[in-house]
Amino acid sequence: MLFDEDVKEDVKDFFNREEDIDSLRGALVEGRKLILVLGIRRIGKSSLIRVVLNLMKNPYIYFDVRGIYQKYNFINSYSIYQMVEENVNKIVSSKLWRRFKEYLGRVSSIEISPTGIRVDLGGKVNRGFPILYRLLEAMDEWSGNEGRRAIIVFDEGQYLRYSRLNFRGLIAYIYDNLKNISLILSGSEVGLLHDFLGIDNPKSELYGRYYYEVTLERLSREESINFLRRGFEEYRVKPSNEFLEEAVNYLNGVIGWLVFFGRISIDKNLVNKRESIMETFIQGSKLVRRELEELFQRSRRYRYILESISLNRRRWSEIKSYIISKELQPLSDPALHELLLNLQKMGIIEKKHEDGEVTYNITDSILKYTIQNL
Ligand SMILES: Nc1ncnc2c1ncn2[C@@H]1O[C@H](COP(=O)(O)OP(=O)(O)OP(=O)(O)O)[C@@H](O)[C@H]1O
Ligand SMILES: [Mg+2]
Repeated sequence: MLFDEDVKEDVKDFFNREEDIDSLRGALVEGRKLILVLGIRRIGKSSLIRVVLNLMKNPYIYFDVRGIYQKYNFINSYSIYQMVEENVNKIVSSKLWRRFKEYLGRVSSIEISPTGIRVDLGGKVNRGFPILYRLLEAMDEWSGNEGRRAIIVFDEGQYLRYSRLNFRGLIAYIYDNLKNISLILSGSEVGLLHDFLGIDNPKSELYGRYYYEVTLERLSREESINFLRRGFEEYRVKPSNEFLEEAVNYLNGVIGWLVFFGRISIDKNLVNKRESIMETFIQGSKLVRRELEELFQRSRRYRYILESISLNRRRWSEIKSYIISKELQPLSDPALHELLLNLQKMGIIEKKHEDGEVTYNITDSILKYTIQNL
């Protein structure tokens, strides 16, 4: 169903995006080593990756890096060990991977029993990361012999930068040495993912490597209306044109919010009622509020910047004086520059040129509403 709010797995539930599917699938078929799937929040990155993986039937391991970070609050050897064990158990139970067990059996520390796979760290939690290397080497060898490329996904890869473990080194190792493995990294904080990988940074292990990029864009107005119409049709509901037009005006082509709106309209019996848009903003802002808390923990100045923009004080000088009025202490231009740049790299604000002046906008309408109602 189009209005199913989980990450989509099946191409039947996945609206349009044929070009993006072809692009990602083509890159994998060609054997590209490093593929980035980029786009703002709720635009459909995880769904695109899942749908393509399910179409391809190649073996894969999927690490939900943001999920791990949120669950454990850090990405260390222990959380790695947990995710390796969980993933390996999932994959060896599938038919495709049956013979992989033999290869895994050669990795010391991995025990195979009829009930499943256990990673034995011998009481030393910090062995979790080296085991990941061994696991990937075994996977590479197995894939080579089976003649099938294996795929490793780090969903929301920019969260790897919070780890003290050298993931960039691991990625470079895979890139250079494991010929039968392709890597997909997704990122909603596009600039931060680029910074983390450091392809242009001579100090990075990944300096100068080539990567292939798939960038997901918002749906156009017309696509958004078609999407909603088709979603409602699945429930045999026929919304009016005005209802759809108005929703699309507010939701700005972000498919995740369109799904959210569709769900609320159906579940709360609000089709053709303006209330459904209000309800989408109220419920949506509960989700966004949690995400903002994570951001504000990094710096309370992010909050002031977003408040300033949402109050229509969108110029550099206006933002600066707003922060100063909140903090009652001076703020240097380089410090403000860095904060604004970070928010752009996270995809939260965008820079615009209006009447010869630089202004900033909040990209997501529900995020803007949330800030206005904090
Ligand atoms: N092409 C599509 N057709 C139908 N629904 C979609 C499509 N793409 C995404 N969705 C829906 O939109 C929502 C967001 O999708 P998804 O989680 O894949 O996006 P994302 O970019 O990974 O988001 P995040 O940045 O939060 O991780 C989900 O409810 C998903 O079911
Ligand atoms: Mg995602």
